[in-house]
Amino acid sequence: MPTPSVTALPIRRLTPRDLTACADLSEDRGWPREEHKWRLLLTAGQGYGVDDPGGGLVAACVVTEYGPGERPDLGAIGMVLVAERHARQGIGRRLMRHVLSVMGTTPLTLYATPYGRPLYEELGFKTTGRSEMLAGRFTPGGPDPRVATRAATAEDLSAVLRLDAEVFGTDRTPLVTRLPAFSDQLRVAVDGGRIVGYAAAWPNMDTHVVGPLIARDTETAKSLITSLAAHSDRRLRTDVDVRHEELLAWAKERGLASVAMNAVMTYGITELPGDWTRRFAPLTVAAG
Ligand SMILES: CC(C)(COP(=O)(O)OP(=O)(O)OC[C@H]1O[C@@H](n2cnc3c(N)ncnc32)[C@H](O)[C@@H]1OP(=O)(O)O)[C@@H](O)C(=O)NCCC(=O)NCCS
Repeated sequence: MPTPSVTALPIRRLTPRDLTACADLSEDRGWPREEHKWRLLLTAGQGYGVDDPGGGLVAACVVTEYGPGERPDLGAIGMVLVAERHARQGIGRRLMRHVLSVMGTTPLTLYATPYGRPLYEELGFKTTGRSEMLAGRFTPGGPDPRVATRAATAEDLSAVLRLDAEVFGTDRTPLVTRLPAFSDQLRVAVDGGRIVGYAAAWPNMDTHVVGPLIARDTETAKSLITSLAAHSDRRLRTDVDVRHEELLAWAKERGLASVAMNAVMTYGITELPGDWTRRFAPLTVAAG
């Protein structure tokens, strides 16, 4: 029997049972396996993939929807991957076209690596911003943080959800409510009894990723990062919107180095909703 052409293989929805195959695909492309992150995305979001008749996956991606379930305001696309052995055969394009048709009129966003960008541009995505990935060991120093922070409690959750929706511009309840279990730390910044920011640090391979990072201002963001670092023995990683120049300069003074630049792209909207001045870092570039 002739082997079917991989470009004609069906696209199916992925489930958390596909976790190992997704991590294998990441590894195939030279990415870390990131199983903890894949698990979250395959649970809170919707994965799409193409099975390899020889076993494993030929391609995968994940879409996380935000806003009301029946009519989402925004979809974030991430983890777009095609196995190296099947690269440049049109599979990435077909998978993305499928996602665009499933998502209909829902506005979309993604963080593009330089590899993905030409494909997304061809499909109609526009670059609307940039984000800088920082990583390294945080070294405390400089003036003491000015805004008080503490570990979040269950009682904080409704205030955190309200703040997050206001700043992100749409409701992210399915992701935010998973943060206490997904993260190693979830902290809030408090001023005058009000929550003015929050941030999580979650384990990814041998690092702690700082995100989401939502804060009233740069001082609050610095206080949150400093307190997360004080309770972590790992290298930190985060993705900061390049418009937050002051935070980026401070983080570099504190030992984090620039490791990558990603383009923030949108489809169906010219700008992301919400308030970028208080949105410092996404939970992950794969989910916004
Ligand atoms: C980006 C990626 C998903 C593309 O998948 P793919 O199936 O190889 O891409 P396609 O064959 O559908 O190509 C679509 C277009 O993307 C561009 N493209 C894809 N691979 C490219 C490469 N190595 N160099 C330059 N352009 C490339 C081209 O414009 C291509 O169109 P063309 O072949 O008609 O010229 C794949 O290369 C990949 O998994 N890369 C590593 C992970 C990654 O960076 N993902 C993007 C995350 S945002």
